[in-house]
Amino acid sequence: MTDTVEKNEAVYVTDQLIADDIDAYLESHERKTMLRFITCGSVDDGKSTLIGRLLYDSKMIFEDQLAALESDSKKVGTQGQEIDFALLVDGLAAEREQGITIDVAYRFFNTEKRKFIVADCPGHEQYTRNMVTGASTADLAVILIDARKGVLVQTRRHSYLCHLIGIRNVVLAVNKMDLVDYSQDVFDRIVADYAAFAQSIGIESFTAMPISGFKGDNITTHSANTPWYVGPTLMDHLETVEVLSSIDADKPFRLPVQWVNRPNLDFRGFSGLIATGSVKPGDEVRVLPSGKTSTVTRIVTFNGDLDEAVAGQSVTVCFADEIDCSRGSVIATADNPPQTADQFEATIVWMADEPLTPGRAYWFKLGTQQVSATVQEPKYTVNVNTLEHLAAKTLELNAIGVAQVTTDKPIVFEPYADNRTLGGFILIDKMTNATVAAGMLNFSLRRSQNVHWQALDIGRKQHADLKNQKPAVLWFTGLSGSGKSTIANLVEKKLHRMNRHTFLLDGDNVRHGLNKDLGFTEADRIENIRRVGEVAKLMSDAGLIVITAFISPFQADREMVRAMLPEGEFLEVFIDTPLSVAEERDVKGLYKKARSGQLKNFTGIDSPYEAPRNPEIHIDTTAITAEQAASLIVDTLLGDA
Ligand code: ADX
Repeated sequence: MTDTVEKNEAVYVTDQLIADDIDAYLESHERKTMLRFITCGSVDDGKSTLIGRLLYDSKMIFEDQLAALESDSKKVGTQGQEIDFALLVDGLAAEREQGITIDVAYRFFNTEKRKFIVADCPGHEQYTRNMVTGASTADLAVILIDARKGVLVQTRRHSYLCHLIGIRNVVLAVNKMDLVDYSQDVFDRIVADYAAFAQSIGIESFTAMPISGFKGDNITTHSANTPWYVGPTLMDHLETVEVLSSIDADKPFRLPVQWVNRPNLDFRGFSGLIATGSVKPGDEVRVLPSGKTSTVTRIVTFNGDLDEAVAGQSVTVCFADEIDCSRGSVIATADNPPQTADQFEATIVWMADEPLTPGRAYWFKLGTQQVSATVQEPKYTVNVNTLEHLAAKTLELNAIGVAQVTTDKPIVFEPYADNRTLGGFILIDKMTNATVAAGMLNFSLRRSQNVHWQALDIGRKQHADLKNQKPAVLWFTGLSGSGKSTIANLVEKKLHRMNRHTFLLDGDNVRHGLNKDLGFTEADRIENIRRVGEVAKLMSDAGLIVITAFISPFQADREMVRAMLPEGEFLEVFIDTPLSVAEERDVKGLYKKARSGQLKNFTGIDSPYEAPRNPEIHIDTTAITAEQAASLIVDTLLGDA
């Protein structure tokens, strides 16, 4: 009762403040901290009711919800508090059923003390990825339990995921207490059960409270029905718990650079959102990955210069020296910078229908850094329901696994447990541009730090100079039987006659030696091309003109090889022969076997071929002879075309 009176007084004071001084009110509103939280639990645990109750009791229902509520009230012609609350809950429930269940619904509300964003995530197992999305920005998780049912598989799954994503504030809301006669015994038993489980997965502490979302017990006011409960109400807790941004402010300074601000020659600043820590003019900073240091001279914002900026603020900083710094760089405290590495152990949540292809190159985005990366076969996947570790060759939709990730360039990072911004990443499919996974870097692998590149005195330039030629890789791609080997052979003969030093790597030959352990599954073909790419690179380092003739059916893998070589040294040669023509020729009789089912995974039949989008050389074998094609390729290579 007392609480209600206090609350009304608070509302009154707010009204007065608005009336007296709108600026002061707006400023106090601006200064409010924001708490992002997620509610977890299956639909029956009363999630919609609880969210409805929070929105309703905060009396700050967002405008669209109010509008929906009003039109609904008109429809049924009812008014009054209890009905409106029920309608609100029905509205929320209906929204979820209409398919919003598949995505995360974000709802906003605020009280006198704080602003809130609640991520309402679907409970079903098949929506793991949505939960991960909702949890990734949350400060706190409310794990709902139906007091009649206790700790369920679902409770364990959600708790595990929240912990994995790094949420350190967990509220165990034992709901529907009204249906168990507000029994302290029931509550205590559930809390003890949960405590045992929480400990097993490393949750250090949680706050348990007995509530009824439906009746409003212990939501905004202490309930007379639970005199034995002396902890905070849910709203009290949400309003006072420490938010991430204030925890982040105490960590070492990290600013991932989003863009370089250079409006004129006199000004050069680096802009981005401060991930952790704080910065002042005069601070010594280090820019990574270059490792160069300088001193901060100014911190610029739209509202003028600042004396200090902290985590969560977007700023532009200027340095005393002209040092190398660009998009993707990280500005950090000079004496305590983050690490750089290119091999990691990571925990990955797979979010695409198409499973992970180990060895394939994906875009790897971590904050403002984007590089190419490959994921190895997982060490294991986790059964989120039982927490068992299972052996796996890939990651399927919604699977969570631990695997090694290798990036093509070193990146600036921190373990996810220390820094969500510098430790959390996503993987993007290079072909479809779809986000296929979210991941957390656990640690870098020491071998990446200990295996150093050996600098040699005789390098690629010396090798090439001695041979008096410019190295290159002519990468042939096309269907089996398209004419790759024939044309490649003619090209090599022509170059040889012109005293060029060449080497031809041919699919059928390499598969007899170096790659005899590989078959024709997608993963094996990727590994085949990776190895051939590395060999071609070594040979071009030796100054040779390398010609490769492999089907190399996947664009991503050809691009991976291109990225290994210096700009301009990789020439993709598309030997374009329609399937019908290659099949008609069927030099090796393999198409016939494939059609009759004797040969599986045959390119063009039951295994895909991705034609080059933008090859340097495009040979239409139905229009020119092999001899003409070879001349065209040689001329293009030597710049005489
Ligand atoms: S790739 O796809 O991994 O690039 P690669 O060029 O090395 O293939 O090998 C292709 C050659 O292997 C073909 O020319 C054919 O002679 C033979 N081969 C055997 N089985 C298959 C298959 N299932 N798909 C394609 N080629 C096959």
